[in-house]
Amino acid sequence: MQDLPSDRDALQALLDFHVEAGVDLALDETPHNRFAEPKAEAPKAEAPKSPAPKSSPAPSAPSPRALPKAAASAPEEVAGMAREQARHAQSLEELEAILAGFDGCALKFSAKNLAFADGNPEGRVMLVGEAPGADEDRIGKPFMGRSGQLLDRMLATIGLDRTQVYVANIVPWRPPGNRTPTPQEIAICKPFIARQIELAGPEFVLCLGGPAAQNLLGVKDGILRTRGRWFTYKTEDGREIKALPTLHPAYLLRQPLQKRLGWRDFQALRRALDGRE
Ligand code: URA
Repeated sequence: MQDLPSDRDALQALLDFHVEAGVDLALDETPHNRFAEPKAEAPKAEAPKSPAPKSSPAPSAPSPRALPKAAASAPEEVAGMAREQARHAQSLEELEAILAGFDGCALKFSAKNLAFADGNPEGRVMLVGEAPGADEDRIGKPFMGRSGQLLDRMLATIGLDRTQVYVANIVPWRPPGNRTPTPQEIAICKPFIARQIELAGPEFVLCLGGPAAQNLLGVKDGILRTRGRWFTYKTEDGREIKALPTLHPAYLLRQPLQKRLGWRDFQALRRALDGRE
């Protein structure tokens, strides 16, 4: 590596800059200059007509960490495998073990841990977020960082804590750099969260943020339109669960004035729990 500053403070500042920019994960032992690397082998039909020159063979680049075959297969095929495997789980423990052994989602191979769930699976309320962040990835449980702390404070305003609610995410592995999970990643993980909801069997599902609401409830509108309205979540085995989209705590940390809307939604949940809604 070249052009690296030599003193400690400058190196730390450079590292902080990369972490701030979301580059907080080493995917390989050494950096690659992608511009200098040879292009991936073209499909046969597009191969050049003239033979490649015999001299100067392309320098061999270190091969990127290989993904298991399942993670490299077509997303629809992998989603089918995920549905098949999730259906077999007869308990949440079994589902977690199946998910831990599932190689179909490439996020698993950049994440440190599976963040399957936190809280009480017997609780009347299940909260579903989007995907783990750095703290959740390190600890292996959903909503452990700043968003989780705000979530706990919001739950406390309606007399709940994690001994009474069950918490999970639509995607259980952290996307590198906290990027949004791709539609393919969500499609692959969806059968698992669907089975998790089915096995936990809560009375109410609180969808935290737009992606959870859109993917669980099939709504197209953004969260500012859907929040605070009750929907019905249907499990595969035909049960109907009352579901309420609300603003994601990470959004509320960025937009504190919107906390009053989140607070209203939590009040609606309280009323529903008390049979007043
Ligand atoms: N955001 C989420 O959606 N889930 C977490 O677990 C943490 C942050």
